Amino acid sequence: MEKNRCLPRTALFSLTAFILAFLFSVPAHSALSQEDKVAIGTEITTIYRAARGVIAKNQKLINDATKGDKGLSADVVIAKTKENYKAATGNDFKMADAGTLKAETQVALLDAIKEVMNNAQPLINEKGKGLKGFLPAIFAKQMGDAFNQKIGGKAYIKLTAPKDYVRNRANRPDKWEAGVIEGKFKDPGYEKNKVFVADAEHKGKPAFRLILPEYYKEACLNCHGEPKGEKDITGGKKEGGKLGELGGAISFVIYN
Ligand code: HEC
Repeated sequence: MEKNRCLPRTALFSLTAFILAFLFSVPAHSALSQEDKVAIGTEITTIYRAARGVIAKNQKLINDATKGDKGLSADVVIAKTKENYKAATGNDFKMADAGTLKAETQVALLDAIKEVMNNAQPLINEKGKGLKGFLPAIFAKQMGDAFNQKIGGKAYIKLTAPKDYVRNRANRPDKWEAGVIEGKFKDPGYEKNKVFVADAEHKGKPAFRLILPEYYKEACLNCHGEPKGEKDITGGKKEGGKLGELGGAISFVIYN
């Protein structure tokens, strides 16, 4: 009898261990609802835009050759990002509960801003240099790259634009993004500023995808406006864009 009881007990133990291992191997965010995913995408794209807005607002300061230290430390940029966030949403920036994907993405994005701004200090504080090439879109690219590296394959963010407007090849839209930009965002009937979400592959993996349209404002047209082909102050060619025209999009991904 003694001998027999051993077997089922071992089996039961193995089974329990197997179930536990299985439970813990399932990524925490697999249980996220569509609503949760939209909320995370909205949060992260909002912080991303808020941070880029800080660089846009301080462009003159950044390009001021007469000044050394610009006072745009990582901490200052993060504090101003939170102010822009509040202006955009009406709410104070708030960290989500620890252990959630929302919190993980928030932390990764704030860390990304910090890293990019720390690395940029020598460039933006260089006295005697005017144009530094530290533009909102370049900051956004660096912030996205840093976020993507920090979030470790769980999510992804990128600034992109209509195919025929892309200057930096690394910002080219993928097939899905190009499809939404051309087929939805450029449709005159498409509601302005409305995000488009779908379950679609990203880099060959099944994912939740969210994309937010952005339009040219007056200030953008100095570089992206008319006449098409003329050089802007950065030496790039103007796109011939018009006020209010679709000029870009922020694309966000959560892998299933
Ligand atoms: C001082 C000139 C300048 C201004 C002003 C400017 N941009 Fe740009 N923009 C650029 C340059 C240069 C690039 C290419 C950046 C790179 O090489 O990564 C760029 C890139 C972009 C991109 C990424 C896609 C691409 O072409 O690689 C978007 C989207 C964009 N700009 C939108 C805007 C919007 C919207 C505004 C206004 C809110 C704006 N830009 C204002 C110069 C400017």
